[in-house]
Amino acid sequence: MKLYIETMGCAMNSRDSEHMVGELGKVGYVQTNEPSEADLILINTCSVREKPERKLFSEIGQFAKIKKPGAKIGVCGCTASHMGAQILKKAPSVDFVLGARNVSKISQIIKQDKAVAVDLDHDDSTYVFASQAPSNIKALLNISIGCDKHCTYCVVPHTRGKEISIPMDLLLKEADKLAQAGVKEILLLGQNVNNYGARFSTDHPKVNFTTLLENLSQIGGLKRIRFTSPHPLHMDNAFLEHFAANPKVCKSIHIPLQSGSNAILKAMKRGYSREWYLDRIARLKALVPEVGISTDIIVGFPGETPRDFEDTLDILEQVRFDTLYSFIYSPRPLTPSCTWKNQVPKEESSAHLKRLQSRHKEILEQKARAELGKTHEVLIEKITEGVAEGRSSNGRLLSFEAGGAGVGDFVAVEVVAHRKGSLKGRIA
Ligand code: SAH
Ligand code: SF4
Ligand code: F3S
Repeated sequence: MKLYIETMGCAMNSRDSEHMVGELGKVGYVQTNEPSEADLILINTCSVREKPERKLFSEIGQFAKIKKPGAKIGVCGCTASHMGAQILKKAPSVDFVLGARNVSKISQIIKQDKAVAVDLDHDDSTYVFASQAPSNIKALLNISIGCDKHCTYCVVPHTRGKEISIPMDLLLKEADKLAQAGVKEILLLGQNVNNYGARFSTDHPKVNFTTLLENLSQIGGLKRIRFTSPHPLHMDNAFLEHFAANPKVCKSIHIPLQSGSNAILKAMKRGYSREWYLDRIARLKALVPEVGISTDIIVGFPGETPRDFEDTLDILEQVRFDTLYSFIYSPRPLTPSCTWKNQVPKEESSAHLKRLQSRHKEILEQKARAELGKTHEVLIEKITEGVAEGRSSNGRLLSFEAGGAGVGDFVAVEVVAHRKGSLKGRIA
């Protein structure tokens, strides 16, 4: 039997898709890239902003047209969580709905007719998913499920439920298995990774994120550890010091800002101020001068004035991020801010987004220029027609002639050119 799976959204959804493929593999499904050949079509959805949700229903229509007679269509993931049975009503060609927190039920739900499993209290934090052999030298590893933060714009707590950490012994076993299968770099996933250990659903010795990093870095074959996303609020000195000192922890970090204005941060319920954010960045840069920093910024949050936006631009100038993910605020169902009266006109938000992104681009050009002549240790991730691609510990993406080097090798690469922010190098 054949399975076609489409994955939208963040790395957590990618990991959920891997889990579903693993579980379905146990009951005889193999993956296909051709939806018209599939016996089961899964759409793993994201609902963090409005657009992907609209795309979903047109996509369901397309699949319904081309699918094999008798093939099933299942809608999974975050949109499934908060729309539940409404999806079956709106799109009768859908056979079942499986919420983001219910992934471990996949093999059961495919046997039922018109089932809806979207229980937000379901706890699969101790479920050991079937896994496929990793096809890459990099792998994803979920360390917690859900999110307790309730930022006022965000639908995620309504799609993934409350935050529960996955027991450390399970994580160490999984990471060890991955390393033995040839994985060199793992990306730890959670909505607030540095809040790890705050709550387990079973008896568990007291641990925190730093303890987890320490333990993971004992695994021999594992060479690199990355994680996303940490929350700026939980970045205490001990965490930053461990980040700096642990040689296996890559020196690139995502520190989601959202806004540079204290008034907006407060309205968002982010729990930190611009001063705290800048203080953490200063501390981090002092400890790790070569650190790569990425961030998320929302423009046009309800009530955001041009003055508030200037505060965000000011942080962009001060931090000079290496990667920026920027979004126009999108009102989401079940969130407090979606009903507020002070929504910002689309034209204003679009103009602000453009300004933010074009300034960021200029900064990136300057940063790329400053990279010329520097040498990075790069882990080769792929080689296409003799050209290797890989990242440095601090997240710089480099391409270069592979020579005799292979995928999974670490090589020293000198930056020799840059074009539109991307770096070309040669093995030093
Ligand atoms: N847990 C992570 C974020 C997960 S959602 C954190 O706290 O940073 C990924 C990003 O989507 C967020 O950082 C935010 O910038 C963006 N986002 C979330 N809700 C949004 C909304 N309603 N409109 C626009 N962007 C949003
Ligand atoms: Fe959403 Fe905030 Fe949780 Fe991140 S921390 S997932 S933005 S509620
Ligand atoms: Fe991820 Fe989208 Fe859900 S960003 S957590 S798949 S809403």
